[in-house]
Amino acid sequence: MRAPEHVPVMPNEVVEYLQPQAGRTYVDGTIGSGGHSKVILEHSGPDGRIIGLDRDPAQLEVARERLAEYADRVTLVRESYDRIREVLSDLDIENVWGMLIDCGVSRDQLAGRTVGRGRGFSWWGEDEPLEMTYDPDQPTKAADLLNELSERELKALFGRTLRGQEVGRVTRAIVRERRQEPIETTGRFTEILREALGFAGRDPEERIPAAYLALRIAVNDELETLRRGIEAAVDALRTGGRLVVLTFHSLEHGLARQTLRKLEGGPIGPPRLIGGPERDAKVEYLTPKPLFPSESEVENNPAARSARLHAAQRV
Ligand SMILES: C[S@@+](CC[C@H](N)C(=O)[O-])C[C@H]1O[C@@H](n2cnc3c(N)ncnc32)[C@H](O)[C@@H]1O
Repeated sequence: MRAPEHVPVMPNEVVEYLQPQAGRTYVDGTIGSGGHSKVILEHSGPDGRIIGLDRDPAQLEVARERLAEYADRVTLVRESYDRIREVLSDLDIENVWGMLIDCGVSRDQLAGRTVGRGRGFSWWGEDEPLEMTYDPDQPTKAADLLNELSERELKALFGRTLRGQEVGRVTRAIVRERRQEPIETTGRFTEILREALGFAGRDPEERIPAAYLALRIAVNDELETLRRGIEAAVDALRTGGRLVVLTFHSLEHGLARQTLRKLEGGPIGPPRLIGGPERDAKVEYLTPKPLFPSESEVENNPAARSARLHAAQRV
């Protein structure tokens, strides 16, 4: 078996908020290497169930191997978590006691371990094709966006994570370079970024990850998927069921908060008229201040550093 490298983030807090129990069904919307699912299964023995989703079939294989001892309690489905309602309906399940969404890319995907080759998620590794899609069969790859979007669209894409002059410099460099030859690999993209971001005494290496993040978010439509996914997850929960979301950068943190706040109900605004129309509450927001990983966790797993945990209970 390919032992997974990915270490699940904030596992104790996930269990504390998901409250897994025997006899109940939980959804792991992003099963990845199966780390969180294993912990949930351990806490819901002997007959708690997991429905595990992932867009990456190679990750589903890693999860299948890792969870082999629990095979009769696990159902794996290749699907995006924002389609959880359709998945449950296909499985003839009305609702579930909990769902976890652990955003982003797993360490195993970054290292190119799952499919035996890198798919362009990492800027530091070997020269790789610039794909960056969780679903390897998705036809539009990151390179297609770089080579086909208009300058204006590229500005909007990189404007999500780059700041000030960085946006224009990166966009202009891409448009200039792709005229010579399409940009197809991480090596070439990183070289372009290094040149464009190294100005006014800045260290380009510090900003290259932000440009990669913008491209990954765009090619996988990650923000819209997260918003839809949280709403779908809440609809899939039974009363008293719990949703836990792990986010890793400010765009995700903000979106998770904003979506859960909206689902808490309250006045439909602005303007927030006293006695105006109200939206019914679907959840109680359990973590209006999201949780951080402990210092000792960050020491042992630096990848957990930027994590925030959001939790809500279906009402
Ligand atoms: C951070 S990893 C999850 C790691 C997992 N919690 C563990 O402990 O091993 C995120 C996973 O979500 C998957 N993913 C990304 N977007 C997805 C989506 N929209 N639907 C389902 N899975 C998705 C990725 O392929 C990746 O395997």
